[in-house]
Amino acid sequence: MKIIVHIDEADQWQEALAEAFPDAQVLTSSAPAEERQNADYLAVWKAPAHLLEEQTRLKGIINLGAGVDHLLRTPGLPRQVPIVKLRDAGMGELMADYVLYGVLHFYRSMDCYAAQQQRATWQPQDVVAKSQWPVGVLGLGAIGRYVANVLHQAGFPVLGWSRSPKQITGVRCYHGDDGLGELLGQVQTVVTILPDTAATQHILDARRLAKLPEGASVINPGRGSLIDEQALLEALGSDSQPGHIRGALLDVFEEEPLPDNHPLWQHPRVLITPHMAAPTPLSDAIDQVIAYIKAFEAGDSVTTIDPEAGY
Ligand code: GLV
Repeated sequence: MKIIVHIDEADQWQEALAEAFPDAQVLTSSAPAEERQNADYLAVWKAPAHLLEEQTRLKGIINLGAGVDHLLRTPGLPRQVPIVKLRDAGMGELMADYVLYGVLHFYRSMDCYAAQQQRATWQPQDVVAKSQWPVGVLGLGAIGRYVANVLHQAGFPVLGWSRSPKQITGVRCYHGDDGLGELLGQVQTVVTILPDTAATQHILDARRLAKLPEGASVINPGRGSLIDEQALLEALGSDSQPGHIRGALLDVFEEEPLPDNHPLWQHPRVLITPHMAAPTPLSDAIDQVIAYIKAFEAGDSVTTIDPEAGY
């Protein structure tokens, strides 16, 4: 069996997989071209096209992240090979920390206090009950579900939205286009944890942002394509003319790194982080990849992604 790894920390992956599969040849993508031929499995994050194009007998591709958008757009991706992806693998917990931080930032008026500090203003803000602060979670995959549960346990009413109907204890679930409009009209903070697909492109556009109540906030730790950044900037307004949206915490952008001159950097009510909300914890991810390869080899069923749906 031959496994090729392509990711930043490829050496650690190579070591762990070689230990788990002592009879296998485990290479990184920096191996010479002739050694990279005829791999059985690719375990990859942002693989170069040539690595996919040169393979002839793959049994499976393991995406070393939750989002398969990059992989599905890579030229040379063999369409008939089953693709699996990391599911949660420790990312849910990290994502939930990030989102809870963001929800509390707006809920406890930390944005107001940051602005007040600039003016040396000592002015406590009212605290409403958490029951008055419904949070919408768009995307109820493994990570979205985890985040929704943590927000519910923290005491916030949670409304969830997904493409197809879902049922989650403690979460009011909506689906479809009408369901999205209904959810947006009720939430103080909306969180986007959807995959980047043709169907989710600019899912928060000007029309949908306008459905949020006055003063709502936006948290996007999912993918930059989910939000129309120009529409968000317009909805945020300026300091002298605040808009409909109170503020945003953004981890992902239409272009990454966010260009130096992008107006989002300068906006006083936008918090920017550099796509760090949920870095995959290595040990959880490695365990999941080992389990996938064992299942493929044993002929057991694995949950593959649906390339048409894009997740
Ligand atoms: C990170 O962005 C991932 O998709 O895992």
